[in-house]
Amino acid sequence: MKKIAFAAVAFALLASPALADEKEDAVAARQAFFKQLGGEMGPLVKIMKGDYDAAAAQQHADKLAELSTTDISPFFLEGTSNQDMPGKTEASAKIWEDMDGFKEKFTALQTAAATLKTEAGKGKGELAGAFQAVGASCKSCHDAYREK
Ligand code: HEC
Repeated sequence: MKKIAFAAVAFALLASPALADEKEDAVAARQAFFKQLGGEMGPLVKIMKGDYDAAAAQQHADKLAELSTTDISPFFLEGTSNQDMPGKTEASAKIWEDMDGFKEKFTALQTAAATLKTEAGKGKGELAGAFQAVGASCKSCHDAYREK
């Protein structure tokens, strides 16, 4: 009995807190990252609905394209799905079962964001078309790999 208790304590010391912190940091980093993406989408919607402002549209499109070049792999540490950390994340375990498929969804966002960057400053119609493709790429990944 004593031996088991000792083993458990030793394991707990080995396993935490460094690892737990690392995982929580990864989750916090990716949530902050996605929040930033969302933070660029909101103003673009306003620009499309209100008076079109080419400079403002370009600014948000540039930022979104830049954000989409982020290497997100470090944010998706092994052991940080919503099954591993219930209540702390919406990341589906499917991400780790199909990392290639997940990365493809991110590549689709990168492509759509790059197009947005070339189109956003040209006019309302161009912005709207390119924006729609970006939105579809967000949704496509969320539908497959995010669980609320
Ligand atoms: C490659 C997949 C993928 C793409 C592409 C993607 N997301 Fe997400 N998003 C996720 C995952 C997974 C989560 C859940 C993260 C978590 O809770 O740990 C998430 C969470 C979010 C959140 C919630 C963040 C929070 O506060 O917890 C927002 C907002 C968001 N995404 C916006 C966007 C927008 C806007 C786009 C497109 C411009 C986008 N996402 C594209 C996978 C993706």
